[in-house]
Amino acid sequence: MGAGDDLCPRYSVVARRLARHGGIVLIRREAAGDAAAIRAVTAAAFGRPGEAGPPAEATLVDELRASGAWLPGLSLVALDAGGDVIGHVVGTRGHVGQAPVLALGPLSVHPDRQRRGVGSALMHAVLGAGDALGEPLVALLGSPGYYRRFGFRLSGEYDIDPPRPRWRPHFQVRVLSAYRPGLRGTFAYPEPFDRT
Ligand SMILES: CC(C)(COP(=O)(O)OP(=O)(O)OC[C@H]1O[C@@H](n2cnc3c(N)ncnc32)[C@H](O)[C@@H]1OP(=O)(O)O)[C@@H](O)C(=O)NCCC(=O)NCCS
Repeated sequence: MGAGDDLCPRYSVVARRLARHGGIVLIRREAAGDAAAIRAVTAAAFGRPGEAGPPAEATLVDELRASGAWLPGLSLVALDAGGDVIGHVVGTRGHVGQAPVLALGPLSVHPDRQRRGVGSALMHAVLGAGDALGEPLVALLGSPGYYRRFGFRLSGEYDIDPPRPRWRPHFQVRVLSAYRPGLRGTFAYPEPFDRT
């Protein structure tokens, strides 16, 4: 039995994974001076062999940071024991109809540090932070096989439409405490997502 199993069973899988790899991982808000490290981690996570230039996701994080959709409390980094940035996640201002909600992503873990629970730690942290801030829901485009474990469901279950109908099989929503069923309509990402 590992640390955290008795006190907090919901997080025991993440805790066991982190412990198995001997890793200390701390999650905190992005601080001044983190931008270059976040860009590097995002580029490493999304980069494909033979691709020229940085992947679109790395540029997207910088464009979001420069936009009005940036929410400083929801850009989180994962640090290793040496204080190096090994992962990042960001929630920014999206909308369902006129209602403000969160858009999630990019989520990145450095390829050398994947499958050790870092991505899960970042996801739990950003969802908890969004809930504490009174946000009603978080939307993202991604693999349902990965995001289901964090409580995401296909957005259609909540009568929320993706910005592009063909995204329906991968467009997901995680409702938070402030969610009310009247919140339905078409989701809109902040403008920088349209450039990717
Ligand atoms: C997705 C990502 C953030 C996960 O980070 P991580 O630290 O490896 O995540 P965790 O260790 O918490 O969880 C790993 C588990 O997620 C699973 N997983 C990862 N990507 C998955 C996917 N696309 N679909 C289903 N499962 C996935 C792994 O199989 C692993 O499960 P297993 O060890 O039981 O087989 C990381 O793989 C990454 O940065 N990928 C490249 C960028 C990316 O795709 N980001 C998400 C865009 S929506």
